Amino acid sequence: MKIVTVIGARPQFIKAAVVSRQLKKQSRVEELLVHTGQHYDDNMSEVFFRELEIPAPAFHLGIGSGPHGQQTGRMLEAIEKVLQGARPDRVLVYGDTNSTLAGALAAVKLHIPIAHVEAGLRSFNRRMPEEINRIVTDHVSEWLFAPTEAAAANLRTEGRPETAIHLVGDVMYDAALDAGRRASNEVLEKLKLRPKSYLLTTIHRAENTDDPVRLQNILEAFHALSKEWTVVLPLHPRTRVLLQQSPAIARLVESLRVLEPVGFLDMVALEKNARLIATDSGGVQKEAFFQRVPCVTLRDETEWVELVELGWNRIVPPTSVDGIVAAVRESLTTTPTKTPPDNLYGGGKAGAAIVEKLAR
Ligand code: UD1
Ligand code: UDP
Repeated sequence: MKIVTVIGARPQFIKAAVVSRQLKKQSRVEELLVHTGQHYDDNMSEVFFRELEIPAPAFHLGIGSGPHGQQTGRMLEAIEKVLQGARPDRVLVYGDTNSTLAGALAAVKLHIPIAHVEAGLRSFNRRMPEEINRIVTDHVSEWLFAPTEAAAANLRTEGRPETAIHLVGDVMYDAALDAGRRASNEVLEKLKLRPKSYLLTTIHRAENTDDPVRLQNILEAFHALSKEWTVVLPLHPRTRVLLQQSPAIARLVESLRVLEPVGFLDMVALEKNARLIATDSGGVQKEAFFQRVPCVTLRDETEWVELVELGWNRIVPPTSVDGIVAAVRESLTTTPTKTPPDNLYGGGKAGAAIVEKLAR
C-alpha cells in the first residue's frame, strides 16, 4: 500500500513525525512525504526533520509564501503532478493549513481516498483561514481521525458518516510524551532562565498579527508584565515581519526576551518550566496542559474547548491591554479545581491507532 503524506508547516512536521514512525513499522506500507515548502526557514522546517527523525521528503515543492489563493493554487498544481506520478492508495493530511487544503483538493479530484488527522475541530469563526481549510478537508476525506470527543461530535453534527469518524486521540499528545522524555533543560541554562521564573509567550495567528490594534494590545500587555516577570517570546516569522513594518510596535518587545523560533525539544523544555503560557497557538495551548502549566489563550474562541471547561485554559480576546494583564494575573493565582478525565487526548497512542485503521 502506498501512502502520500502532504505537509508543509511547522505543526504538521511534529504531527507527521508521530504517524510516520508508526507507518515505518508496517512492512506492507510505503510512505512518500511531500513537503509543500509553505514553511522554509531552517528553524521552521529542517530542525524538525533532524530532531524528530522524519524521513526526508520524496518531493519538495518549494512553494514558499504568498497570498492564500496564490499559495494554495501553486500547491494544488504541484501536488496534482506528484499524485498523478506516484498513484498512491491514500493521501494523508494534517490539521488546517493551506498545505492541508491543497493536499485534500488535489487528491479528491483524482479520486484518491484521503485521511485527515485532526478532523472535526471547529472554532465556528469562518473568518479564520484555518476554519475554511478544515471544513473543506473534512468534507472530502474518507478517514476522519478526530482528536477529541468534541471534534467527533462536530463531524456528526455536520452529517459526516459514523463509519468515517474515528476518535483516536491527539497525535500532539503522543509527540509531547516523546519529546518530554528526550528534552533536556539545556536551553534554560543557555538562556539563563530559572524554572518557573518566566512567562512563555507565542503569537502568530493572522487575526492577531494582521490587526494592528490587537497586536499592540498583546505586546503592550507583555511589556507591562515584563516589569514583574521575564517574558520569553520565540518569534514566529509572520510576527517578525509585522514588527519590522511598525517601529512603534517593535519598541514594545525591547523589554521581552525575544528568541528566534526554537526546535520542538527546546520548546517543550521551555513550556515545562514556564510559570504560565500566553499564546494564540493551537498546539501550544494543549502542550501547556500536558505540562500542567496554566494557559491564557489570546483569541476570541478555541477549538480545544475541553481545556477551557476544565479551567486549564482561559480565553481572552486581545481587545484590551488591561484585560490581558488581569487574566494573566488571575491565572497565576488560581489553580484549576476540576480533575481532567483520563485520556482526554487519548493515551499517547493516537499514532498507532491511526495507522492501524489506515493500513487495514
Ligand atoms: C500557517 C498556517 C496556520 C498555522 C501556522 C503554524 C495557513 C493559512 N496558516 O500560518 O494555520 O497555525 O502556519 O505556524 O496555512 N515566513 C517566513 N519563513 C517561513 C515561513 C513563513 O519568513 O519559513 C513568513 C513569510 O513572511 C510569510 C508569513 O511568515 O508570508 C506567513 O507564513 P504562512 O505560511 O503564509 O502562514 P503562517 O502565519 O505561518
Ligand atoms: N513550536 C516550536 N518552536 C517554537 C514555537 C512553537 O517547536 O518556537 C511548536 C509548538 O511546541 C507546537 C507547534 O510548534 O508543537 C505549534 O505550532 P504553531 O504555534 O506554529 O501552530 P499552530 O499549532 O497554532 O497551528
